[in-house]
Amino acid sequence: MLDPSDLELSRRHLLIVGAATLAVSSIAPRASSAAIDPATPTGTPVMTKVSFDVNGETHRLELDTRTTLLDALREHLHLTGTKKGCDHGQCGACTVIVDGRRINSCLTLAVMHQGDEITTIEGLGTPDALHPLQAAFVEHDGYQCGYCTPGQICSAVAVLAEVKAGIPSHVTADLNAPVRLTNAELRERMSGNICRCGAYSNIAEAISEVAGRSA
Ligand code: FES
Ligand code: FES
Repeated sequence: MLDPSDLELSRRHLLIVGAATLAVSSIAPRASSAAIDPATPTGTPVMTKVSFDVNGETHRLELDTRTTLLDALREHLHLTGTKKGCDHGQCGACTVIVDGRRINSCLTLAVMHQGDEITTIEGLGTPDALHPLQAAFVEHDGYQCGYCTPGQICSAVAVLAEVKAGIPSHVTADLNAPVRLTNAELRERMSGNICRCGAYSNIAEAISEVAGRSA
């Protein structure tokens, strides 16, 4: 049988361990926020010059090195067609095409794109001469609020190029056969572009129509 003094000892031990845990957890957030503070000790941003082509035009900018490509496009070049949805790489609203590949522009720093060729929704077509995908989205009612639409269309441009180049996806069953844009392929390849309005079936119809025409 336990002596009452043993019980007192374990209770004290438990209290000490608990207090130590609390102390560590209350210190941790302060330590981590200090670790990720991107400002210099004086709080002055570090500026860097960068130049890249956007929609065929060369732009030279001097930017805070922390500026994302999305913010450079929207806030510095005023190309607001590219949208900021989540700012965390999860919705695809900020999709642009860089050197032929689609990327989430919120997940990349502008200064990493020295010399790159960037295409945004503004570079795909004009109101008088829509890109075939823009026209198909209008024809098939592939949007409701339209917020995701620029990213959807930039992604779809890249998807059509991927299929044409025979690049397989995660759901491609036969790697030796020519790649076809089946419903499963389309949904897999466009899965990074979220539509909060749920216009998916019309979006899929619009892209399939253009894919069928260009096959
Ligand atoms: Fe870039 Fe959502 S804003 S993925
Ligand atoms: Fe509204 Fe897609 S049309 S989010």
